[in-house]
Amino acid sequence: MATRSLGDGIDECLRFDTEQERHQWYSNAAKYWEAVPATINGMLGGFADLTTRDVTASLDFLRPFLSVVGGGGTVGTSYALDCGSGIGRVSKQLLLPIFSKVDLVEQNGSFLEQAPEYLGEYSVKVGQYYAEGLQTFTPEAGRYDVIWCQWVLAHLTDDDLVAFFNRCKTGLKLGGMIFVKENVTKNKSAADDVDHSVTRSLDAFYKIFSDTGLNIVKEKSQPNFPKALFPVIMFALA
Ligand SMILES: C[S@@+](CC[C@H](N)C(=O)[O-])C[C@H]1O[C@@H](n2cnc3c(N)ncnc32)[C@H](O)[C@@H]1O
Repeated sequence: MATRSLGDGIDECLRFDTEQERHQWYSNAAKYWEAVPATINGMLGGFADLTTRDVTASLDFLRPFLSVVGGGGTVGTSYALDCGSGIGRVSKQLLLPIFSKVDLVEQNGSFLEQAPEYLGEYSVKVGQYYAEGLQTFTPEAGRYDVIWCQWVLAHLTDDDLVAFFNRCKTGLKLGGMIFVKENVTKNKSAADDVDHSVTRSLDAFYKIFSDTGLNIVKEKSQPNFPKALFPVIMFALA
């Protein structure tokens, strides 16, 4: 990790000098997740009790963009993509009740194997389960109304995150939007050498969005989470 560059959160947050170190970072993270149980508690690092508060706030944030009754927006509800889905917590509790179809992309194949059982009757609405890291995943062009990324982007290097967002832009239908819900630090970005992630500062996210040409249409903090946790921010991007 000696050459990992953890900047002050403005120009650079997570970048490696060599391809080998970059690969090592991703494989260390994959190993970490292999040891995590395929449960809600596993997905939420022991905070399963926060899932209702999380999903309620996500729904309040998302709904005004949607062209559904009570929504009032213009974003369609045909197809969504759940990025870093784990067993499908966000899919089941937020996306599948709204969208006609949802695809899940997740690097850990055993989480995806657990997903159909966890999703229960909603599993009939799943289009594809993609077992792939976001650093290489390319959404099919023009497929999604909404691409939802939650608690996963901290695993991607800066360059891979910019490239991923650029591929996501291509994966959107006309008028589609990308939603990001992630932990942020109050000032400097913070690396976690246990799960091999980096919690970015708000400025680091702003820089990455601007590098991709994505505009922040709306930004909101997750309310009612314990003060001891990192703040959680939701972004709507177009
Ligand atoms: C904190 S869990 C969140 C799961 C889900 N988004 C949720 O909110 O319930 C992080 C998930 O990201 C996955 N993950 C980690 N690195 C990834 C990568 N490079 N590409 C895709 N998924 C990744 C993990 O395997 C794990 O399922």
